[in-house]
Amino acid sequence: MQLVTTIAEARAALHTARAQSSGSLGLVPTMGALHAGHLSLARRARVECSIVAASLFVNPLQFAPGEDFDRYPRQLDADRTLFAEAGVDLLFAPAAAEMTPPGATTFVDAGELGSRLDGAARPGHFRGVATVVSKLFHIIQPGRAYFGQKDAVQIAVLRRLVSDLNFPVELVACPIVRDPDGLALSSRNAYLSAAERTHALALSRALTTMQTRLAAGETRAAALVAAGRAVVHAQPGIALEYLEAVDPASLLPVETVTPGTLVAIAARVGHTRLIDNFVA
Ligand code: PAJ
Repeated sequence: MQLVTTIAEARAALHTARAQSSGSLGLVPTMGALHAGHLSLARRARVECSIVAASLFVNPLQFAPGEDFDRYPRQLDADRTLFAEAGVDLLFAPAAAEMTPPGATTFVDAGELGSRLDGAARPGHFRGVATVVSKLFHIIQPGRAYFGQKDAVQIAVLRRLVSDLNFPVELVACPIVRDPDGLALSSRNAYLSAAERTHALALSRALTTMQTRLAAGETRAAALVAAGRAVVHAQPGIALEYLEAVDPASLLPVETVTPGTLVAIAARVGHTRLIDNFVA
């Protein structure tokens, strides 16, 4: 695996790789602190593409002041080994000044979609995501880009981005990878104390309760959401931010849960914000 840190090096390396291979190029964008969720995207890209690029960049544009940008886990050496083992050919790990030079005045606005669900709690977050992902698409020019279903709102925003701005990229949404007890893997799980980790299980427990009710025939969104809320509220140490059944593209609430409906949850456990979801 080749590690590049500048845009010019990335372009030169990909130019060479493309000259040697006629197949597709897959991109796996990440902020590092890799876990099995990230690596599932890289492995899928390895199976489906002839050249696999990954990016590792803790994007300051998607963190609001007071969020965890400064303490976000950074472990380039370990991540480098993990990406190489997953079969990544090229790792693009730019410095902040390379990707977000001071004085830049052009940004990609995610519009109304960017202000729903996680975007309501994190104003400006999806503007930062849409801007950096657009830049990565321009720099790497992948035919396919791999994202995790865990960040379902991010997927909705990026699908619109690709469609609205005519990026010739196929987005591939990959299933959520969980710990055996049900907790969705997240780089932010590293912030949780042992007690908080137990509290955090209420997110996936709420979702499985809703899935069980749904399987038993309950399709009214309000009833399902009430059942999920009750699970979270019964658990001390966790503060629910939202639990909603929405259309997966518009992110607007639905009255009836049908196949494809996104059921998404966000909650705070101590200072840590966690998200999870399922698709009906
Ligand atoms: P990051 O949080 O590092 O996540 C990188 C990718 O891994 C995202 O597509 C995310 O959905 C996926 N992922 C995270 N946890 C997962 C899990 N448990 N199972 C499956 N996939 C999982 O998302 C970002 O970075 C950034 O916003 C980024 C797109 C890189 C732009 O800066």
